[in-house]
Amino acid sequence: MKPSFDKSQLSPNDITLGIIGGGQLGKMIGIEAKRMSLNLAYLDPDKTCPASTIADILFVSDYKDEKSILDLAQESNVLTYEIELANSSVLKDLESKGLPVHPSPAVLNTIQNKLRQKKFLKSKGIPVPEFEEVTSIDQARRICKDFHYPLVLKACEDSYDGRGNYVVRSASDIDKGIRYFEGRKCMIEKFIHFTKEVSIMVARNTRGNITSFPVVHNIHKNNILDTTIVPAGVNRRVEANARSIAEKVVKSLKGVGIFGIEMFLDDNKLMINEIAPRPHNSGHYSIEACSVSQFELHIRAILGLPLVKPRLMSPVVMTNILGIPNYTGEYSLTGIDKALAIPGMKLHLYGKRITKPQRKLGHFTITAESTEEALSRTRRVRKLLRVGKKRGNKEE
Ligand SMILES: Nc1ncnc2c1ncn2[C@@H]1O[C@H](COP(=O)(O)OP(=O)(O)O)[C@@H](O)[C@H]1O
Ligand SMILES: [Mg+2]
Repeated sequence: MKPSFDKSQLSPNDITLGIIGGGQLGKMIGIEAKRMSLNLAYLDPDKTCPASTIADILFVSDYKDEKSILDLAQESNVLTYEIELANSSVLKDLESKGLPVHPSPAVLNTIQNKLRQKKFLKSKGIPVPEFEEVTSIDQARRICKDFHYPLVLKACEDSYDGRGNYVVRSASDIDKGIRYFEGRKCMIEKFIHFTKEVSIMVARNTRGNITSFPVVHNIHKNNILDTTIVPAGVNRRVEANARSIAEKVVKSLKGVGIFGIEMFLDDNKLMINEIAPRPHNSGHYSIEACSVSQFELHIRAILGLPLVKPRLMSPVVMTNILGIPNYTGEYSLTGIDKALAIPGMKLHLYGKRITKPQRKLGHFTITAESTEEALSRTRRVRKLLRVGKKRGNKEE
C-alpha cells in the first residue's frame, strides 16, 4: 500500500484511489476524482468495463479474488468499492494493516447479506418490513401462512436490480420460489403496498461529520429503477423523518462514504427497504441538479475532507436507459441528435459494449423550472431514444 497522505498539502496525482468494480458507478466516481487529479486503480472482471477508459491501472479479475485485491491495495492510498460483492474478509486484513478501506469491511459485511442487514436495522429500532429467515421449506410454508400473501422471497446475498427477489402470491408459489433460489440462503418479507418508494443519499466522512441529499421519489419497473423525481413530492414532516432515519442508519453503522438508503412510504409511515454502501442510481440526478454530487461527497468523505450540505438547484428527473428484451449483443442508441436539442437534457452513456435485457446502459437527466416541465421533457426524450441491435453485427 502507498504511504498515508497529508490532506493539508496535496500535489496533483499524489493520491491513488483504489476502486473495486469498474462499472458505471466506479466510472462516475473516477470522473469526479479525475477533476481533482487523483490517480485511479480499478479491479474488474471485464477489461472493457466502463471505467477502463479512465483507469490509470486496471486489474482484471473476479471481484473477490484475493491476489488481485492485494495487487490493487499495493497501488492505492485508499480503497473503496462500487459493489457489495467485494470480499470483506480480505479487505478486513488490509484494513488491519493500516490501509484505509471505506466504507469499512465491517460495514460491508453487515450490508452485503440482506438478512444480516435487516437484523441490524431492527436491533437499532429502525423500522423495516416484517421479515423472517428461511430455514426449511416447511418452515417457509408456515411463515407464508402467518404473514399472508403476497410476500417477497429474497436471496440474502449477491442480488441486485431485482434479480434476487421472487414475489410469492399464493401457497403454490413458495415451492417454486425456493427452487428458483436453489442452494442460496433466503429470507421472506411482507409485501408492502407502499404509496411511494423514496430514497436519500447520506454522506459521512472519516471525522464523523454527516450530511444528506434531498429525498427523492423512485419509480421501479420490473424491480429495477426506471425514474427518479426530485423533489419527491412528500410533505415536510415525511421529508424530515426520512432524513432523520437515513442519517441514524449511517451513524449507527459508523459508515464512511456515501450511502443510498431506500425506503417505502406507506401513507405517512416510512420503512427501510435496503441500504447501499456506495453511490446509488437514485443519486445520479445530483451531478446536474445539486451544488455537489454524490460522487464528489463520496470522495471527500473517504479522504477525510470537509463535507458541505448539497443544495438542490432545480427540479430534476433522471431516467435509466436499459437494455431491450430478448437481445444480447452489440447495440447502438438512436435519437441522440434530436434528444439533445431538448433543453436541460444531459446524456450519460456508460460505454458498455454489449447490451443484455434490462442492463443499465446509461441514463439521462433533465433539469427544468418545474417538476411537471422536467417530466414532460422526459416523455419527449423517451420517445426519441432507442436502444437497438447494431446494424451488421451478429448476436452473441
Ligand atoms: N417487501 C417488499 N414489498 C414490496 N415491494 C418490494 C419489497 N421488497 C422489494 N420490493 C420491490 O422490489 C425492488 C427491488 O428490491 P430490493 O430489495 O431493493 O432489491 P435490489 O437489491 O435488487 O435492489 C424494490 O425497489 C421494490 O420496488
Ligand atoms: Mg434496491
